[in-house]
Amino acid sequence: MLFTDILALGILCVITLVVALGRTRRRVYPLPLPPGPRPLPILGNALQLDTKRPWLTYTAWGKTYGKIIHSRILGIDLIIINSETIARELLDKRSANYSTRPVIRTNELAGLAFNTVLLPYGETLRQHRKIFHQVLKAEVSVSYHEMYSRHANELVINLLGATSDWQKHTQAYTASLIMAVTYGHLTDGYEGSFLTRAHELLDIAKHIVSPERAAMFTAFPFLEKLPFWCFGGALSLMGRSRELAQQLLNEPFDEVKGQIANGTASHSLVADFLSQAHDDADEDTMKAVALMGYIAGIETTTSTLQIFLLAMVLYPDIQARARAEIDQVVRHDKMPCLDDRASLPYLDAILREVLRWHPVVPLGVAHATSNDDVYGEHFIPKGAIVIVNQWALSRDEDMFPDASRFDPSRHLTVDGKLKDSFANHVAFGHGRRICPGRWFAENSLWTAASATLAVLRIDHAKDSNGDRIEVKPEFCTGTAIHPEPFHCSFESVNTAREGHLRAMMNSK
Ligand code: HEM
Ligand SMILES: *[C@@H]1O[C@H](CO)[C@@H](O)[C@H](O)[C@H]1NC(C)=O
Ligand SMILES: *[C@@H]1O[C@H](CO)[C@@H](O)[C@H](O)[C@H]1NC(C)=O
Repeated sequence: MLFTDILALGILCVITLVVALGRTRRRVYPLPLPPGPRPLPILGNALQLDTKRPWLTYTAWGKTYGKIIHSRILGIDLIIINSETIARELLDKRSANYSTRPVIRTNELAGLAFNTVLLPYGETLRQHRKIFHQVLKAEVSVSYHEMYSRHANELVINLLGATSDWQKHTQAYTASLIMAVTYGHLTDGYEGSFLTRAHELLDIAKHIVSPERAAMFTAFPFLEKLPFWCFGGALSLMGRSRELAQQLLNEPFDEVKGQIANGTASHSLVADFLSQAHDDADEDTMKAVALMGYIAGIETTTSTLQIFLLAMVLYPDIQARARAEIDQVVRHDKMPCLDDRASLPYLDAILREVLRWHPVVPLGVAHATSNDDVYGEHFIPKGAIVIVNQWALSRDEDMFPDASRFDPSRHLTVDGKLKDSFANHVAFGHGRRICPGRWFAENSLWTAASATLAVLRIDHAKDSNGDRIEVKPEFCTGTAIHPEPFHCSFESVNTAREGHLRAMMNSK
């Protein structure tokens, strides 16, 4: 992304760039920065990056320079952390210094000021996180268990009838579930129009959040004064982005308000919120929180669900063991539900392993330092962008021997208990910025995984000659990654549960 941006800037911008560089003078630091590759003049290490998969470059640098690395891109200091211990030490234990975000000036211009993910550390963020906590904390999230189950049952039935286009059902599961939980039942047909526009907005937003892009705007604030067409591509869509954001923030929220007024509202985060007393500022925050659930939750959760299915195809023994665990605990004509969760540690271990095996946000979301700090012998300057390279953490052979193998038993003790809780997983980030949607993600993934395994065998698909179609774990890249579409088949292995699901869906 970075590289195409630089190209898009064109000659005009390059001239301005050189002028600006003349103005940035380096501080002299009291201690050396962490080690790292030698930066080139002006661009720093920008051209050394694998732009599609920068986490691979950062992991490779780790082998040469160690677990904490310094790199410079367009004059901005980047601290890359390749170790879970260091990530916890700095981002968790010293969270007061490590909880802000790189300044992304385009955010506001694009009408995305509501975007919690990019808020600097401060009062607005505190208000957002307070409401997130109210509506998405562990206990509240569990109270939606019937909604998770209803949508997971639908997912199972849809997968059963699916062919090569099964991916769309995983996406529909996440999307309709998030909508149902946040807004409840909206006017028929509205959901489709909301989702189409939300995706358009998400696509635009994604082009603005990469730390490398943030670096560019932090380094050269004057860039935002240039006309948008100068950047080409996504940035020229800012007007559209502003318009979409306003529609999506207000429409569904106002609809729920109307439903409350005429007594037709169903149980939902927004309805619950509105049934208590609030001032207008809180209401704006709730609008943002509701929309953020969709923006931040849809791709991450859908991709994780697809990676789960990928692992089940590739590791049939693990799949069989998980199903055996379910059949031992849950009656054969009943679906598993969240109450059974504590009795199904192997299933939880599978979900933890899914997050480790292919972390869906390989570089997490960049933090930034609000003060100078010292770690060991190294200086970490104020304003540095701090990236936890989850990919490197997941491939740490000391912690995860044979790391590229999918092996849930890593997360179990010898007597079969879970070692650590799911919501503590590094895949959800760190410190004061840890993902506030993690319980929702956890419950929705658990419900979908348990329902799928309880009814379906997930296997290789066969081609027209009856030969099995091989599956390779390959991933599309971006801020969030997801598996390349792959073929698989779904076959019912429990007719009692299947019948039960069909009956429930017909009686709806
Ligand atoms: C498997 C699913 C998910 C994964 C792997 C995931 C991962 C992450 C990560 C890595 C961060 C950045 C944390 C940091 O800066 O250290 C984050 C932030 C965030 N996530 Fe999630 N997330 C998931 C699902 C969700 C869902 C379902 C929601 C909402 C319902 C959500 C809402 C958010 C928000 C609002 C932030 C920004 C928090 C802040 O900047 O303070 N996420 N998530
Ligand atoms: C209640 O209000 C909502 C939102 O304004 C509207 O869509 C719905 O049709 C109304 N229902 C009834 C029964 O008046
Ligand atoms: C930031 O880190 C420095 C050095 O470790 C420490 O002295 C300072 O108190 C920290 N600041 C905050 C706000 O925690």
